[in-house]
Amino acid sequence: MSCLILTTLKRSLFPKVSRKSFWKTFTAHVVGLAPMEGYSDSAFRQVCKTVAPQIITYTEFTSADGLTYKAPKLLEKFHFNPIEAPVIAQIFGKNEASFASAARFCEDLGFAGIDLNMGCPAKKVVKSEHGIALRRNHDLAFRLISAVAKATQLPVSVKTRLGWSDASDLIAFGRGAENAGADMICIHARTYQEPYGVPAVWGPVYDLKKSLSIPVYGNGGITRLEEGFQRVQNLDGFLIGQAAIGNPWVFLPEAEQPFHFAAKAPIIRQHAAWMIQERGELNGMRQFRKHFLQYVKGIHNAKALRSDICHVASLSDVDRTLEIIVQGPMDQNEALGAA
Ligand SMILES: Cc1cc2nc3c(=O)[nH]c(=O)nc-3n(C[C@H](O)[C@H](O)[C@H](O)COP(=O)(O)O)c2cc1C
Repeated sequence: MSCLILTTLKRSLFPKVSRKSFWKTFTAHVVGLAPMEGYSDSAFRQVCKTVAPQIITYTEFTSADGLTYKAPKLLEKFHFNPIEAPVIAQIFGKNEASFASAARFCEDLGFAGIDLNMGCPAKKVVKSEHGIALRRNHDLAFRLISAVAKATQLPVSVKTRLGWSDASDLIAFGRGAENAGADMICIHARTYQEPYGVPAVWGPVYDLKKSLSIPVYGNGGITRLEEGFQRVQNLDGFLIGQAAIGNPWVFLPEAEQPFHFAAKAPIIRQHAAWMIQERGELNGMRQFRKHFLQYVKGIHNAKALRSDICHVASLSDVDRTLEIIVQGPMDQNEALGAA
């Protein structure tokens, strides 16, 4: 089974080249799809890249230890299609040897870069001293960055938050990360203690940029592309997360976004088809339902469709539901469909 997955993975390789300078090659602000466990899989990355080919994408976060053991479920997570490129592989953990070995593996798979998750607030992750817990152990965080930087030709980036309860250690952390070999740092402009809904505070990220020579990206609370370009200021790029779920068109300027649901339907259908291709019909459709609910959010009388959407089990079910919306009065409220 794992051999089969590896063969599929290797088919999607890019030429293996030294790309340490990847993050420094951009001449304009970079826009990216933020890594999101349970959402930013290959199918959704393909959808976002189809809508907006200029963006960069990340995998969902994946355990470095698990990759070392070549756990088949994790290998599936690292499958990508060349259309998604450049794709950054995101890993988490706390073991230097696993990070180094995972980094070499990512290099073989043709990823454009490797990102170290130092921001995940999930209880299980924090309890294991991974993710944001590394902000309370700078020494270990820097050793992990250094181990990866030495192990691979891939550029190494770090994604973290403002801090644990405030941004008081952000500059010290950023400087240490840069000294340890980080080629880019992306800051989710919320602290560990702030839930995703709390307004993001970008000021400390602008200050961090002034203290570092590597590129600094910002992330948090962007709901429109134009808003991202306003917020980016002295930074090198920004990532959009939640606002892309059910709305990959968020990566387009507002004037270029489709107005009618009918214009969105082919992409939504393609998303379902890619899900099936990646995971098979049963699992693919199960995973697609949550995306489908988000795609119809805001359209007229969407509640009436909820049960249909929660039970789609095949591409024809998806087609039928899309047809109901496109043909019926639901598409009259299409502007809201982009919400
Ligand atoms: C459902 C979900 C899953 C996420 N998974 C990850 C992840 O795997 N790795 C990561 O670095 N951040 C993850 N994040 C955080 C996002 O990458 C991003 O930093 C956060 O959502 C803030 O951006 P936004 O306000 O644009 O959503 C996740 C966020 C959400 C909502």
